[in-house]
Amino acid sequence: MRKSVIAGNWKMHMTCAESKIYLEEFLPLIRDIPNDRKIVIAPPFTAISTFSSYTDFEYLNISSQNIHWEDQGAFTAEISPKMLLEHGVKYAIVGHSEPRKYFSESDEQINKRAVFAQASGLTPIVCVGESLEQRERGEADRVITRQVEQGLENTDPSNLIVAYEPIWAIGTGKTCEARDANKICALIRKLIGFNDVIIQYGGSVKPSNIDEIMSMSDIDGVLVGGSSLEPNSFARIANYE
Ligand code: PGA
Repeated sequence: MRKSVIAGNWKMHMTCAESKIYLEEFLPLIRDIPNDRKIVIAPPFTAISTFSSYTDFEYLNISSQNIHWEDQGAFTAEISPKMLLEHGVKYAIVGHSEPRKYFSESDEQINKRAVFAQASGLTPIVCVGESLEQRERGEADRVITRQVEQGLENTDPSNLIVAYEPIWAIGTGKTCEARDANKICALIRKLIGFNDVIIQYGGSVKPSNIDEIMSMSDIDGVLVGGSSLEPNSFARIANYE
């Protein structure tokens, strides 16, 4: 059975001091979480060491928000797997629509990051998703197919998470209809051809819609931005029914 993965993406939020206050409030709220799920938070790089002092907590795993395809070198502003592994990081977000949009991240670069993350013993969380214009033109399936085929080439599906994040639903409060999201997640599973691959939905996930989203057959978790920044709200999401 697939274990669900509930992940918070903090983006460029939270100092070390703020992270500590958050964790002190959040950890007791997920103490009795059922064993069918894993909880992950991707803090900014500077707060990762604050998190690693809590790694003895069984259900909280650390993710990075990026990962490079080499272990060291002249790559200003990048971060390597070995730097992350030293802090107990287990996951790395790759191909989020923000770096795709603001830094022109390509499917080829995303693929190199995902492949090297796996080779280094990390689990990549590879994000895919169509824009509003692409959806309105009826191109969602084609865009997702291209991102999956190019971004996931030569990756191992048994150590992979794919996050379906329609761009128009990120940070907008507009959630994709759970059934529509489920259809795309089923398409991704079919394209990958491995039934046990973990597929998340992301885009305006909040306490009021988490139960419906998690009741869908092909959605194995969520990637949460805004609602993961407040301990009670993310704990409610983590404790979905
Ligand atoms: P949101 O962000 O939950 O704030 O919509 C999701 C994401 O960017 O991963």
